[in-house]
Amino acid sequence: MPSNVSVIVGTQWGDEGKGKIVDLLAESKDYVVRFQGGNNAGHTIVVNGKKYPLHLIPSGVLNPKANCVIANGVIIDLEVLVSEIEMFTKDGVKLAGRLFISDRCHLILPYHKALDLAYENARGKGKLGTTGRGIGPAYSDKASYNGIRIYELKNWDLFVEKFKFQTKIKNEILKTFKVTPININKELEKISELRKIVLPFVTDTFQLLQKAVAQKKNILMEGAQAVMLDLDFSPYPYSTGSNTIPGMVNTGAGIPIQKIGDILGVVKAYTSRVGSGPFPTELTDKLGAELQQKGAEFGTTTGRTRRVGWLDLEAVKFACEVSGVTEIAITKIDILSGLKKIKICVGYELPPSVIARSPERSRRMTKQPNKIPYSSCGYVELEKLTPIYKEFSGWKEDIMKVKNFKDLPKNCQDYIKFIEKFLGIPIKLISTGPKREEYISI
Ligand code: IMP
Repeated sequence: MPSNVSVIVGTQWGDEGKGKIVDLLAESKDYVVRFQGGNNAGHTIVVNGKKYPLHLIPSGVLNPKANCVIANGVIIDLEVLVSEIEMFTKDGVKLAGRLFISDRCHLILPYHKALDLAYENARGKGKLGTTGRGIGPAYSDKASYNGIRIYELKNWDLFVEKFKFQTKIKNEILKTFKVTPININKELEKISELRKIVLPFVTDTFQLLQKAVAQKKNILMEGAQAVMLDLDFSPYPYSTGSNTIPGMVNTGAGIPIQKIGDILGVVKAYTSRVGSGPFPTELTDKLGAELQQKGAEFGTTTGRTRRVGWLDLEAVKFACEVSGVTEIAITKIDILSGLKKIKICVGYELPPSVIARSPERSRRMTKQPNKIPYSSCGYVELEKLTPIYKEFSGWKEDIMKVKNFKDLPKNCQDYIKFIEKFLGIPIKLISTGPKREEYISI
């Protein structure tokens, strides 16, 4: 039986251009749902020449027919949420009756942000490069029963009691980091104003989504971050605080897994990542700097320059396997136009001296380099391995206006066909530019 619930997931380290794809797909959707992460996510949608940076509200918001749901797996910074609500309200985008927020969502509170930054500073050279938005501390409070939810915001006395208790403890920790403690009364005043704007959108999103599934509504689950940052399947601790794979749809929104249909994996035509951590195909040379500029690889959330490199299909293959990706969208292929040669990583080789969780571990004894799959690598192996590349000839033509696959330059077609064959998953959409209308549908 075909399912009406589809999932979109980033197959790399984030910033694959998921926002634009969600915005496009949302045209035919009744619901667009965020189910994990927080405002560490940053999507930019360009509509009628206007750029909308989004961090929390689902990217379907600009399609008036789509209902937008922030489900229980998402963690919420009230200030960010309110600034997005105000941005859309100012531009005449109606939110009342179509934005729904779960009261199970945990809150990112001021001490989470302070702790995130304090830990990062204390890590010194070993810092992880988090977005500084309090993501890790908020999710860890959730897991250690110290979280405070939107549920408490509905009962102000309960919220105040819990907030005071938590802030006092967190202030003690902040003191050990020599960080200015949080001013309880000032923050409470701020939160009491923000809650008035947020509470009208709060509801039991479980009921809402159960009903939507039963009524066969078209539902798009909008994954944030990407598989390579998944809390379990990334080279921990170079991770984000949530599970980013589609399995999280169940825990993060209450939709049973057997209701999930298509899973669309978004693959950027090259790779980028923000923050620290291993990046096997990174380009630190002039070409890397060119790709950064041309691809505008600067974070929507933090403005940081993203590291860039060749497409790593060894990693993407793993991401598709663990996510059960059924179809692919390729993004930013236009950024590669003009390059003479383009490389794709098709496997990893580990020097014989490195001890790995490799199934081919015994080959270490032969002094031959081991071929090692992505899933067998921890961060040590990922730093030390050598990517195996396949080289492609580039194309010069501007492809942003092309609407049919067969009208793409031959070398560009070959590059895309290779990705499809390597992954064994059909490519359904190719994004050829930042604007809504710049794409090829297959
Ligand atoms: P955190 O999620 O802020 O804790 O950051 C942990 C790691 O995930 C850092 O390397 C961030 O740069 C990265 N990260 C978090 N969210 C995103 C995202 O939406 N896109 C790309 N990278 C992200």
